[in-house]
Amino acid sequence: MDNEKMGEMPVPRTDSVRVAVRVRPFSQREKNSGSQCVISMHSRSITIRHPKNEDHVKTFTFDLAYWSHDGFQKDEDGLLIPSDPTSKFASQSDVFHDIGRGILDSAWQGYNATLLAYGQTGSGKSYSMVGFGTNKGIVPRVCEELFQAIEKQKENLELQVMFSMLEIYNEQIRDLLSRTTAPGRLRVREDPQLGFFVEGLKWAPCEDYAQIEKLVEQGSKIRMTASTNMNASSSRSHLLIAIQVKQVFLDIALTKQSSINMVDLAGSERQRSSGSEGDRLREGSRVNLSLTSLGNVISALADLAMGKKVLHIPYRDSVLTKLLQSALGGNSRTTLLAALSPADICYEETLSTLRYAERAKKVRNRAVINTCPLVRTSKAENALLLGFVGAGAAEHSAYFWAEQQLGTRGTWAQLLEKARREWEQQYEALTQEQQMVKILPHILNVNEDPQLTGVLKFFIHNGSCDVGRATSNAICLQGLGISDKHASFVNLDGKVTVAPYSKCKVIVNGVPVTNRTKLQHLDRIILGSNSAFLYIGFPSERGAEDLSRFDYDFFQLERAAAEGVSVDMLDSSSPGDDQTNPSILAVFQDYIKLMPLVVEANQMSEELKKGLKMELKVKNLALSDSKGYDLQKEVMVKVTKQGTHEVWIWSKAKFINRKFLMEELYERFLESKDSHVAQEDDPFWDPVEAVHLGSAHVWLQSLAHRTMLEEQVEFLNCDGLEEAVLHIRVTPCSPEGWAHGEEDMVIDPLELLGRRTDFQIHIVQCLGVKWLKEDATRGIQMGYKIYDLPNTLYTKPVWKSVNPRIEEMVHFAALGVSREFLNYLLTNALIVDLWGLQEGCAHLGASQLDVLLTGEGHIIVDTKTFSSVKDGGQITPNQVPELYQKLLKSEEEMELLRDINRTLRGENVFLKASLEKAGSVPQAQKTDNPEGATVTAARETKQVCTQQARSNAELARALKVFYRGMSVARGQLLRLRQCRPPEDDQMLRPFVHQQSQMLKDLEDLLESSLHKLKTDVAFIVKKKKKEYLLPSQQ
Ligand SMILES: Nc1ncnc2c1ncn2[C@@H]1O[C@H](COP(=O)(O)OP(=O)(O)OP(=O)(O)O)[C@@H](O)[C@H]1O
Ligand SMILES: [Mg+2]
Repeated sequence: MDNEKMGEMPVPRTDSVRVAVRVRPFSQREKNSGSQCVISMHSRSITIRHPKNEDHVKTFTFDLAYWSHDGFQKDEDGLLIPSDPTSKFASQSDVFHDIGRGILDSAWQGYNATLLAYGQTGSGKSYSMVGFGTNKGIVPRVCEELFQAIEKQKENLELQVMFSMLEIYNEQIRDLLSRTTAPGRLRVREDPQLGFFVEGLKWAPCEDYAQIEKLVEQGSKIRMTASTNMNASSSRSHLLIAIQVKQVFLDIALTKQSSINMVDLAGSERQRSSGSEGDRLREGSRVNLSLTSLGNVISALADLAMGKKVLHIPYRDSVLTKLLQSALGGNSRTTLLAALSPADICYEETLSTLRYAERAKKVRNRAVINTCPLVRTSKAENALLLGFVGAGAAEHSAYFWAEQQLGTRGTWAQLLEKARREWEQQYEALTQEQQMVKILPHILNVNEDPQLTGVLKFFIHNGSCDVGRATSNAICLQGLGISDKHASFVNLDGKVTVAPYSKCKVIVNGVPVTNRTKLQHLDRIILGSNSAFLYIGFPSERGAEDLSRFDYDFFQLERAAAEGVSVDMLDSSSPGDDQTNPSILAVFQDYIKLMPLVVEANQMSEELKKGLKMELKVKNLALSDSKGYDLQKEVMVKVTKQGTHEVWIWSKAKFINRKFLMEELYERFLESKDSHVAQEDDPFWDPVEAVHLGSAHVWLQSLAHRTMLEEQVEFLNCDGLEEAVLHIRVTPCSPEGWAHGEEDMVIDPLELLGRRTDFQIHIVQCLGVKWLKEDATRGIQMGYKIYDLPNTLYTKPVWKSVNPRIEEMVHFAALGVSREFLNYLLTNALIVDLWGLQEGCAHLGASQLDVLLTGEGHIIVDTKTFSSVKDGGQITPNQVPELYQKLLKSEEEMELLRDINRTLRGENVFLKASLEKAGSVPQAQKTDNPEGATVTAARETKQVCTQQARSNAELARALKVFYRGMSVARGQLLRLRQCRPPEDDQMLRPFVHQQSQMLKDLEDLLESSLHKLKTDVAFIVKKKKKEYLLPSQQ
């Protein structure tokens, strides 16, 4: 407590916003998915590297940097401490030591102080600010030390502390200290002298730390209840804790005031509006406004500090920026704590957080010591009380707030007395709850935000106790999918059971229950769409379990497992493999994350009578990979309109965006029973569009040998099931369009190099289209894009036919075949996509084809010359299932056979030369019959040539047969990899049997194709040798 300079006029001090960064440990999810750490830290510098490009690094330097990623252990109280003296691990007390003490020092000196925690969801903002369990964060430690100092306070010094806690969600302010003030009633007002303030906010006078602890607990309860009622996730709201500290120096009749604001901001990833990419509707209108505005204010202030001309700082754009006006560019000492996730998958977000922090560093504030002669303070307060009833602001004294609370000009002592009485009532309730926890079975809420888990406790008293929305229930519970009378708990004879009412949703340990079910200690219960609770049994059942194990993730994983969703289900490529592909794990995490959201969206759709049904699907990217072995998958949402059967496919990003908008609409519906919205603004509506049904792989190897291919290939959908069959013909031809015959085959594709090659793709028919079997009024179109063609070519739409005839042919020409194009033909497939058309949807087709044409009007492919072969799809051995390895091996052997063929050709040339040489001797000897000699030589040469052509054709035929086999094998392999085990255990045995049969067939096919090729080639080689050697021996 600094008495220096007291009584002097406050002098503004310019100081920059202090910026600290902190890196948290890997979460369990990140560990499970084998995440890599992309961040390193040296002193105050932090370096982030691109996960896929080691050379791409960026370094930032900040005022403070904390490494909390590793090098720590838990002590017996659960406190995280450095694992050894050399560890650079920064614990909660290290962070408090710099940041928290800085805030307290500022407060004692009479400066306002602000701390903002910024970072993406789950990056550790709340951990640093509030903390978990024994690992207390900055807020409780600041409060604790504040009161420790008060205890030691000197005579003649009175300390007055007022506490408030509010939440900003969707631009509405919720008072977390008042159960009665409805959100939306609290308004931000502006006073010309005092700036912005929240009118009517409750401020609690506090005299010890225990009170603040209880206030925070109570605040969390209100927050939790509000978040369930509104179906809003807490990571999207801003939490603002404000403390007013007033020091009254009675001996010198002077006061010093400090306003401390500590803000746990909403998850920053929403700020980039990443959710609305490619969506017709813009992101949830107001959810993000505060955070976006905060970014704008910081940018404008940073520009200003850099000497740029800034006309206007947009403080007024949002509630948050209004309340933080003095913290940014004003009268406050401000610290921004940027919380970082170390995982590679969070790279983009982390980099964006670092950039944000870098900008914030430039913001300059003008902090003054808020000191005032005691008389002046009172005068000012009198004036305010008389003039602006309800006024107040961050900079103003706690005393003033106190007066407001009382509604009279009471003293601090009176205020405390009133607060104490309120306390006693609340304290009694809390103590009672603590007693009941010890003796009664109860359920504890489990929330996505660990800060809010365990905040609500519902006791199950003896007898029956109903749960539901209606206030008449013993346990009154709001939340999506919860009915007025939802379920009943019965506590009888030392047993607790639960049963749903009629068709209400109750899930116990992942499994939906319909009958009365006995509960065991630590059972997981989900009521309605997603209200999760952990059941705590009778005291006799309890042990020293670690309840934190049963977090939100645990509930969702259990629910997914019960529904048959597991990593193995997604990763059919490597059954039994210990090492699951990280990208599969990432998709699984996405699935688990989206699963409850889809349930909620369906519930909203039902309650709002929108008639949409949403289902999660996993799209296997191998289906759209022209090599067929892309192991990546992605999650998407299939949306079906009940009644009309209209179908849409939404990307994950689009679904998340829509979910936000649905929530806004739903909230309005809850408030006013009005869910009317113009069609173009309706998140449940989209214009009808063509739907991707599946893809077919047409392998192009035969084209590299100039042989015709006619196939019936399956269109596989995202579940790997047959959607339809494609009848296609790929014909090598002359520039005039005459189909090449067998005699035009080439054995060595290299022969095509640099030469003009023409071919026609003829889509003949589509057979057994399921899309049409489901609804005969629908239509289809097909599209494909070969090699470097800039546009997709679509077939004409055909409606109302299950087996539509297409008969569309396109002629392509490669004017000088490049090595890359040859490679493409040899290793890639043409992907033909099947699109479903529905009534009212636009047809597919490029309005303007951006293609080059030959003089004959054929489409030119292979227009670019590449410097290197594109090799992005290179697969590593551990990714490749055994059969794929076999296929590759067969191709290697093929290459070997091609080499043999080349050697044979060399021999052939040599033989030809020696034949000519041998022929020239008799010719010289038989000079008496020159004509006859020439004829014989010519006949022999002709014979050799015919023999050569014949064996070439034989070889080409052998290769053609082989390639056909390979093509079938590839198709089978693709199908095998799509196969998912059935959910039903009884079906597992036949499934395994069928799978092993398919594997066996595939193996047989590979073996026999290879064997046939080997024997054919051996036979041809033998024949060739015999034919060439015989004439020279004669
Ligand atoms: N420094 C740390 N040390 C140990 N665990 C941490 C640390 N930081 C964060 N965690 C853990 O990471 C998880 C996410 O942290 P937290 O809830 O603080 O994130 P958040 O940024 O507040 O997310 P949201 O935006 O969703 O509120 C928590 O389980 C927390 O215990
Ligand atoms: Mg948080």
